[in-house]
Amino acid sequence: MVGNSKDPMKIIIDTDPGQDDAVAILLALASDQLDVLGITAVAGNVPLALTEKNARMVCELARKPGTRVFAGAKSPMERPLVTAEYVHGKTGLDGPVLPDPDMPLQPLHGVDFIVETLLSEPAGEVTLCTLGPLTNIGLALQQAPQIAERVEQIVMMGGGFFEGGNVTPAAEFNIYVDPEAAHMVFESGIPIVMMPLDVTHKVLTTRSRLARIEKLATPVSRAVVELLEFFERFDEKKYGTDGGPLHDPTVIAWLLKPELFSGRYCNVEIETNSPLTAGMTVVDWWQVTGKPHNALVIRDVNADGFFDLLVEHLARL
Ligand code: RIB
Ligand code: CA
Repeated sequence: MVGNSKDPMKIIIDTDPGQDDAVAILLALASDQLDVLGITAVAGNVPLALTEKNARMVCELARKPGTRVFAGAKSPMERPLVTAEYVHGKTGLDGPVLPDPDMPLQPLHGVDFIVETLLSEPAGEVTLCTLGPLTNIGLALQQAPQIAERVEQIVMMGGGFFEGGNVTPAAEFNIYVDPEAAHMVFESGIPIVMMPLDVTHKVLTTRSRLARIEKLATPVSRAVVELLEFFERFDEKKYGTDGGPLHDPTVIAWLLKPELFSGRYCNVEIETNSPLTAGMTVVDWWQVTGKPHNALVIRDVNADGFFDLLVEHLARL
């Protein structure tokens, strides 16, 4: 697994903005360690027409209107789309009032962008950062199976094991929405770094942390606080916590500062059949199956170090 290498890491961000996706995108665009080749939107938190628009709005908030944004899949590979307006609001970016985007949506389909980029860039040099359902990646693997040996790694927010699920008792949202795509990804042989709820529930947007962001007193920091004050309310009520889990930025933070995190290599399989547990990530944390390790499963994080990194980068925008 590669994080924090010397030359800017080439990444594609696959995302369903989503307030936490937005913060992850801002973190990535603020970093000189990352070369964001493109952002591919997927249906998830809200429908595709909104996730692609939201991705462009966030790029303009970061004053990076030259970022290429593509629209990918509008529904999961086999199942009807399940969305999460109850968390993210009807726009998917409720909280601040952000202007509609001026920057264009790229004409190429997001899945074609992923395939063409992986076939044209040198093998092993492009990391996929997935922040939503894995539909675009599953479709890309179906369209061009040969890309599996060309992806450097997939760093994903998804799944849960000791923490259980957040949509059903067994399944986390990103996996729950498209278990078949997740199954294809975990069986692909591509090196995976998995950020499950077990680690994202340890990076809470507490009042004191939001106050740190607020003190930056920039248009970006104001928007981030408004995004997170809206986003956190559902989980604060559900879990009775000060702040909500800041899921997706953990993916980008791992690339920038992997030493903030710890976990272990495990076998992970995805339940795609049982109605009760569909979308469950079955993590062999205690190594009882003897099955091959297909993911580095992250469980712990230095939460204060994570927010130090985030604040430092937001201050650059
Ligand atoms: O379960 C959390 C994940 O689902 C995050 O990626 C959030 O943005 C939603 O997509
Ligand atoms: Ca997301």
